[in-house]
Amino acid sequence: MSGAAGDIVVTVTPNPSLDRTVEIPALTRGAVLRATAHRVDPGGKGVNVSRVLARFGHPTLAVMPGGTGELAELLRAAGIQPVSTPARGVTRVNTALVEPDGTTTKVNEPGVELAATEVDVLVDTVAVHAAPAAWVVSAGSVPRGAPDDLHARIVSAARRGGPGTRVAVDTSGPALAAAVAACPDLVKPNVAELAELVGHPLPRLADVLAATDEIRAGGVGTVLVSMGAAGALVATAEGTWHCAAEPVTAVRSTVGAGDSTLAGYLLARTSGASPADALVHAVACGAAAVGLPGTAVPGPADVDITSVKPASAPPESLDLTGEAS
Ligand SMILES: Nc1ncnc2c1ncn2[C@@H]1O[C@H](COP(=O)(O)OP(=O)(O)OP(=O)(O)O)[C@@H](O)[C@H]1O
Ligand SMILES: [Mg+2]
Repeated sequence: MSGAAGDIVVTVTPNPSLDRTVEIPALTRGAVLRATAHRVDPGGKGVNVSRVLARFGHPTLAVMPGGTGELAELLRAAGIQPVSTPARGVTRVNTALVEPDGTTTKVNEPGVELAATEVDVLVDTVAVHAAPAAWVVSAGSVPRGAPDDLHARIVSAARRGGPGTRVAVDTSGPALAAAVAACPDLVKPNVAELAELVGHPLPRLADVLAATDEIRAGGVGTVLVSMGAAGALVATAEGTWHCAAEPVTAVRSTVGAGDSTLAGYLLARTSGASPADALVHAVACGAAAVGLPGTAVPGPADVDITSVKPASAPPESLDLTGEAS
């Protein structure tokens, strides 16, 4: 499912990271620990979307504040064109200490800080690179110093840069609320993020459907809701579908599952798939991600469409709380 240059997907990661995974025999406070293995991966939600796209051979460019040096090298090696904009501070290193039984202790640094002028440069840079892009994906947390409406400004900038460019947002809390008000073409909340957005719990699929109706009525084209083991739901102008993978019995790491879901959806849509078929690919990519260790992201060889039930009308009575109804 590789794409032509005109299908390029530009991702924006306002707070990128270097994700360092260190395997240790046991975590002991105050001791000197010897690592038995370690790896470093580029991280941050937009970056993860680019990593999946690149694994599928799809052209992608990743815009981020900071992100020079090691991060830029890792991105280039993964087939992703990095575009750095000015920032103060250094790219955060998120360290995961993994013990043999899988117990993981994480230490996350705060990351870059942006002054008002650096926010302006980031937004203007998105406008420049959006022009030839099929999609701009703005994803992840808002760095220190940047306003809650950062993703909203990126949505407007992407539209300004390319009138034919579509924009997707994956973030949470006030940043998601502000972005939704800017009417992106697609948002990808999980159930907790969607619940916060509409201001009440969503225990059943019927509640999720009502929430997607509300968000779409506000001017968002597509709402792609990831629901963990319950799969995902897509609400579009053409209709609403639900799809779930066979339960993954060997969940190895849920890091990047939502990002893989979004990348899978966009990969299929840019190659002409219907929303229902794109949802099937999205869920297959999400399920593949949870079967991979650490921060690894899926490529074509990891994704098994046959492990996913066909998309169907949403079973409204589905209980999302995990409790018997
Ligand atoms: N236990 C599981 N079994 C099968 N598939 C799963 C499981 N957990 C997640 N998935 C798949 O991954 C997708 C995304 O998961 P989830 O809804 O947890 O995303 P998320 O909360 O946005 O994650 P993140 O933002 O941390 O990447 C789901 O739609 C589903 O396809
Ligand atoms: Mg997510």
